[in-house]
Parts: sequence; structure tokens; C-alpha cells
Amino acid sequence: MSRTLFVTTALPYANGSFHIGHIMEYIQADIWVRSMRMAGHTVHFVGADDTHGAPIMLKAESEGITPQALVARYGAERPQYLNGFHIKFDHWHSTDSPENVALSQDIYRKLRAADLIETRSIEQFYDPVKGMFLADRYIKGECPKCHAKDQYGDSCEVCGAVYAPTELIEPYSALTKAKPILKSSEHFFFKLSDPRCVEFLQSWTTGENLQGNKRLQSEVLAKTREWLGHGKEGDEVNLGDWDISRDAPYFGIEIPDAPGKYFYVWLDAPVGYLASLKSYCDKIGLDFDALIDPNSTTEQVHFIGKDIVYFHALFWPATLKFSGRKTPDQLNVHGFITVSGEKMSKSRGTGISPLRYLELGMNAEWLRYYIAAKLNSKVEDIDFNAEDFIARVNSDLVGKYINIASRAANFISKYFDGELKFSGDHAALSAGWTQAAERVRADIEAREFGRAIRDIMAQADLINQAFDAAQPWMVAKGLQDTDTEKRALLQDICSNALGGFKALSVMLAPILPELAHRVAIDLFGLDREFVWSDAGQIPTRINGFKHLMQRVEPNMLEALFEPPAAPIAAAVKANEPALIPGGEPLAETISIDDFVKVDLRVARIVNCEHVEGSTKLLRLTLDVGEGRHRNVFSGIKAAYQPEQLIGRMTVMVANLAPRKMKFGVSEGMVLAASHADEKVDGGIYLLDPSTGAQPGMRIH
Ligand code: MSP
Ligand code: ZN
Repeated sequence: MSRTLFVTTALPYANGSFHIGHIMEYIQADIWVRSMRMAGHTVHFVGADDTHGAPIMLKAESEGITPQALVARYGAERPQYLNGFHIKFDHWHSTDSPENVALSQDIYRKLRAADLIETRSIEQFYDPVKGMFLADRYIKGECPKCHAKDQYGDSCEVCGAVYAPTELIEPYSALTKAKPILKSSEHFFFKLSDPRCVEFLQSWTTGENLQGNKRLQSEVLAKTREWLGHGKEGDEVNLGDWDISRDAPYFGIEIPDAPGKYFYVWLDAPVGYLASLKSYCDKIGLDFDALIDPNSTTEQVHFIGKDIVYFHALFWPATLKFSGRKTPDQLNVHGFITVSGEKMSKSRGTGISPLRYLELGMNAEWLRYYIAAKLNSKVEDIDFNAEDFIARVNSDLVGKYINIASRAANFISKYFDGELKFSGDHAALSAGWTQAAERVRADIEAREFGRAIRDIMAQADLINQAFDAAQPWMVAKGLQDTDTEKRALLQDICSNALGGFKALSVMLAPILPELAHRVAIDLFGLDREFVWSDAGQIPTRINGFKHLMQRVEPNMLEALFEPPAAPIAAAVKANEPALIPGGEPLAETISIDDFVKVDLRVARIVNCEHVEGSTKLLRLTLDVGEGRHRNVFSGIKAAYQPEQLIGRMTVMVANLAPRKMKFGVSEGMVLAASHADEKVDGGIYLLDPSTGAQPGMRIH
């Protein structure tokens, strides 16, 4: 039976470029959507920018532009990524749109009419200079527990303590450094703890969708149990009401009948799914209301990452339900992609850039294949690893699958003018391919992409083994037009290989759409893209074979991982003059945990002398308050005479592993400043602490 689906991916924040995590999510959803379409289902696949909230407002302000201009700037980049990776949304919209304003306000009014909105006065930190209430991440201060300085308003990055911003010692605004004051303000709450909501969510989270499948993966369901309990008598429910308002100034949607109040970004963000669908329906003449009617059979499916489950499994279904709308049929939650085992950081210089991938001429479908091979239906993280990538693409995708066609096609062109002929039982052949394709289709629908690919590669192995065992190159040796039997044998061997290749191409079509397009149209002469039922159709001929896919060059991956000259590249892109501090780009961002590993101490230079035979080094004898002296070599001879330094204080790395040098063991390192380019300033400047610092004091 043909189904209609409304499919979305999470709406990306519009204050940055896409990263590999976004691309992974889109590739996962795009593969799934393509497969559903190949099965004859109708899919409306939409996305949008998530534009609202304080970070976007503040970033635009710091650049002296409007939030709309900022959003437009990143918006202009998006087609490069989406087209580049063959990700085909039907429509892309924005939460900053008239559709979203109307829908969000309507949902709010219905919730209010259902008595699920309440106002409460809450006290919050306010920046008197900026004239704005401060979210926790814009408040900093000293940790109440370990007294680390400059910690954020919700938790300490040094000791891990979690607290309220009001518990910080000497709090200050991260925006203006001003001392925040406590100020009260009316906030609007969605009553998530209302028994109607709790009861509805108990049933929605545990229930089944129109297809008789669970709406939530088991891990996601388990997570919701932590908030909802198990619905048993006496079970604890940890559902707080949800603060849905923010005070001006805020970039967002105004709350009806409440001047100066805006919806918190997470209220109108998922409504953006509907806004995008509406804008799409209006564009192509579809009935939007029919699609999202509570009784509609359209399946509403959201692909999201594991970090935003709370919003999608609780608030979103509840706001839809109690505003009288259709609730989601399925949440497809994925884990995070890490790069070489490391968590991606939002700052530059880590991870791999999707645009750089394309600029290096790397094939988008290698990445689609690789990501698919790693994905399953669980909420598991996956890792992008260079060696693994090369192995899977070169050995499996090219070495096994593409290879079948390269080996068999030339015989068919050369000896049989493109004509295929199968000696075996056609019905059995067709049934075999149909069954195999159905297994793969079902795996893709269940989001078991990795299993589907393992299945496909096992089939490719069998085809290659049969081909090798039949040794067609021996059959073709010295072949004459009159060798009828040999000719039939050769044609059969190669037809079977190519028939199998076609069936595998159908199975890979959702994952490798561009390649499958060429196989369908250029090689097998179809006048359209593959659909699932093509797998069982026995092909009758091929056109001339053109090379289908290159192997990955390992040096491409080296280039992909090369640290980009981040500040320069970014400045050039933003059309700003590049200001590179001290002649070298800033190093990669580190966490406070990385920093505290370096133990810096005040040291007194008790002695200093030349090093016999060295043109660069001075030998320093340092007192770091340990009751013994340290021997440290330092490359500062060009800048200082030994007698200038004796008695001075400086700063040293005190926990650096001792290093054996030509002239003796060096037990640490002193700190000195220099410009990267000697021509700009050849000086070396030893650091010294302010008067009063004593040997052994730690630098924090
Ligand atoms: N704007 C919200 C979503 C609103 S949905 C109504 C948001 N935006 S985001 O840009 O931060 O993230 C968009 C999607 O990318 C989320 O599903 C998120 O989980 C996903 N990913 C972000 N980093 C990721 C990885 N490293 N790996 C995989 N997906 C990741 O959240
Ligand atoms: Zn702390």
C-alpha cells in the first residue's frame, strides 16, 4: 500500500555553517527518503533554518548587522553543501517566516484556551548595562564549590559542580562584565506537569504508530522513562513546567497579548517543521491542513540527534496534542559523529570540513557510502576514521561492487555488441534478485543501513567468486565467431555478473543516487531512475561501459585533515582584513582541563651561564621553592647576557618531562615571547611576574 510521509531533519541553528554532524544527519534522512520513494511512497521532505534566540541576536549585533542579514549570509552557503552531498530536500524554509509566526501563535492560543498556560513571576539575573536578562551561559563567576574563576552560570568546568547562577561568587555578565542584578519578571509556562500532559505522554511515548511500529527506539523510550516514570502508581514523575517566554530584547516571535514577551526559541523551532511544510504546500498546491489533520494517515517522521530528545519526545508532541493537532508518528534518533575518536568541537580547526571535502575533489558518494556503512537503528555514536574510510571505499565499494561491472562489461561490448543472455531459469534469477533487494529495502526502512551494506557486499563477493571460478578471460582467449558454445558460455558468465551488478545498483541507489543514475541511464539504457522493483527485472543489454568510480587517494585524506589556517581563511571568507596575532594563527581551542595539565610556577634564576659549544642556549639554575635547584636550558642567548638574568624572577613549566640534551638534562622550560617572523621583530622577551610573587607560586 502506498503511504504518504512528512519527513524532517532537525532545523539547524542559522548562526554557523554546516558541519559534518549536520551532513551526517541529512545523509541518513536522505537515504531513507529516497528508499521510501523507490518503494512508491509519497514523501514530503522538508527542512528550515532555526533562526531565533539570543545567540543569533548577539552575534548579529556584534557584527553590526541585523539577525536577518546574518541568517541570510549562512543561508546563501547551504545549497553548496546540500547539492554537493546529493541531499535532496523538497523544500527549505525558515522559522523567521509569516507561516511560523501564524502557526506558533495559533498553537499558543489553543494551549492557553486549554488552560495549559500559566504565568509566574521569576527572579533572574539582569545585565543593567546591556538592559537584558541573562541566560545562564551569559553569566560567569567563581565556582561556589572549588572556587575556580570564570565559570559559567550553570556548572563548573573544573570540578563539575552543578548550581544556579545565583550561587556563583562575584557573578558578572559575560557580555559587558557588569555585575548582574536580580530582577523579577513575568514568565509564561506551558504546564507540562498537568496530569493531562503526563497521561498523554505516557501513552504517546510507549505507543505504536500507524504502521504498528514503536514511535521511539528502546534507548529513547528508556530516557523518557526517567522523566515520566513508568506510569505506575507511586512512580516519580520528573516533569517540570516549561518556561516558554523570554523578555525583550529577543530575536523571536511575539507572544499574543503580552507586549515585550517573546516565545523561547525552542517553542517556535519545531513549529518550523510545519511552517516549512505549509510553505511547500502553498508553493505546489497541496492541501496542508489535510496532511496534518489529527486523523490524517500522513506519517510524520522526525530525524534528530540524541541531544535534542527532550524537546522532541516531550514538549513537541504535547504542544501538538493540546493544540488539537496531529502528533508525530516516529522519532528517528541518531548518535553523534566523532572524527578520529574525538568529539567535534564547534570551534574551527577540529573535525573535518564538508566544504573542504568537496573542494579537494573527493566524491560525495564515498562519504554517503561510508556513513551508511556505519549507521544502524540505535542511538550510537559513529567515528570517521581515515584508514577505515579508505578501506571501505577502496576495498569494498570500488574493489567489490564497481569491479564487477569493470570486469564483465568489456566482454559484452566487444563480443556481443552489448547484448545480454542468461542461460539459467529466468524466473528463479529474477526471484533471487527480488528477494535480496527486499531484504535490503526492509533493512533501510528499519534504518539498519550497515546491515544492508554488509548484505550487498556479501552478494558482491558471491558474484565475483562465480566470475573468477568461471574464468571468462580463458574462455575469451582466441575466441572465434564460429565457437558457438564458448561464445554462449562467455555471454552467460558476463550477463550473470552484469545482471547481479544491476540488482546491486538498485539496492545501492538510495545511498549512491548519482552513481545509480548513471548505471540506470547510461549503462542499462533506462529512461528514468531505479525503483525497487527494477531489481528483479532481467536486463537485456548494456551500452558502452564508462568508468564509474575512482578510488580514494590516501593523500586526499591527509589534505582533508590538515589543520586549516583558520583565522586567515575565516577572515578572507568574511571579507575582513586578516589580523594574525604575533604572526601566527591561534592554536586549536583547548578545554580548561587541557590547560590545568600544564603546571606553571614562578621561578627565581639563581644562576645563569653560557653553554660551551652552543650558539643558542643559556644554562639556567632555577629555584622553584622545592628545596633543590633545577637545571634548565633555554634558547635565549641571542637576547640576554647571563649576568642580566641572575636574580630575576620568571615563569617556568614545572611539570614538563625532563629531557636529555647534548649538554645535560633539562628539567623544565622557561617562558618567553617572540614574533613568529624574525624580520618583524627578532626579539625574545623572557616573562617575569609582578613584584611580590615568590618562587613556587602556581600560575592560574
Ligand atoms: N536548532 C536546534 C534544532 C531545532 S529542531 C526543531 C539544533 N540545531 S543544531 O544545529 O545544533 O543541530 C542540528 C542537528 O545536528 C541536531 O539533530 C543535532 O543533534 C545534530 N548534530 C549536531 N552535532 C552532531 C554531531 N557531531 N553528529 C551528528 N549529529 C549532530 O539543535
Ligand atoms: Zn568548581
